[in-house]
Amino acid sequence: MNFNGHTLADSLSGELIGNQVYFLNEVDSTNVYATALAQKGVPEGAVIVADCQTKGKGRLKNRAWQSPQQKNLYTSIVLRPTVEPSVAPQLTLAAGVAVAEHLSTYCLEAVTLKWPNDVHIRGKKVCGILTEMRTTGGKIDFVIMGIGLNINMRKKDFHEEIRESATSLREETGNDIPRVDFAVSLYQSLGKWYERYKREGFTSIKSAWLEYSGIKDRNIRVNCKEEVQEGKVLGIDDYGALLLFDNRRKTRRILAGDVSLVGNK
Ligand code: BTN
Repeated sequence: MNFNGHTLADSLSGELIGNQVYFLNEVDSTNVYATALAQKGVPEGAVIVADCQTKGKGRLKNRAWQSPQQKNLYTSIVLRPTVEPSVAPQLTLAAGVAVAEHLSTYCLEAVTLKWPNDVHIRGKKVCGILTEMRTTGGKIDFVIMGIGLNINMRKKDFHEEIRESATSLREETGNDIPRVDFAVSLYQSLGKWYERYKREGFTSIKSAWLEYSGIKDRNIRVNCKEEVQEGKVLGIDDYGALLLFDNRRKTRRILAGDVSLVGNK
């Protein structure tokens, strides 16, 4: 099946995520495009997909998301949740769970979540999630959930500086993956977890996230700018912060940083 807007829209008809599909052969960033559409009032569940991006945005400032054509999935989803803006990071964690669950159907027991927004296969990054939000009068107007997923890229295609730390589904399974089927099932998984989140709240997402991360009770190091913190992970709180029991026996909330495991349990 061709990777285009018609095939995606046909396969997603009747679903919440994908009730409208905007397919672009090329765009600067699907998150930027989705923001403009959301400001014009497109409904919750509208999906923007691009075959390539010229300015794919990464989470860290000045970090671009490599987005070559005909290889991967670059998508942004418009959501309009009725939760407080302060708990919006829960949505990034929910998206991570949905992506991890879907990828696990290709690579059983090899998929992990890395706080706050990365999905790994066998320790290498396969997916990044960039959630952006607009508020009006203290309420969420919309959330843009941007997902970049390396599907059919080969190792040689990655920029040299990330070649050893990044991977694709093609590299991990040895097979080329049809992008339409992959994307449709991913949107269904995202829809399932988002509906659950709206119905039941964050509890089941939190436990699924901790399960996929394997990080609870592990000793970690967090690098954030000049600061390095170490301690044992107690869990995550309702604001998406990592809870760390540090060497001075104090519980710290970690809001940003690069996490690595230290030693054993
Ligand atoms: C990260 O740094 O890990 C987050 C990367 C997010 C990349 C995706 S690709 C689709 C969407 N559009 C963007 O410009 N960025 C996100």
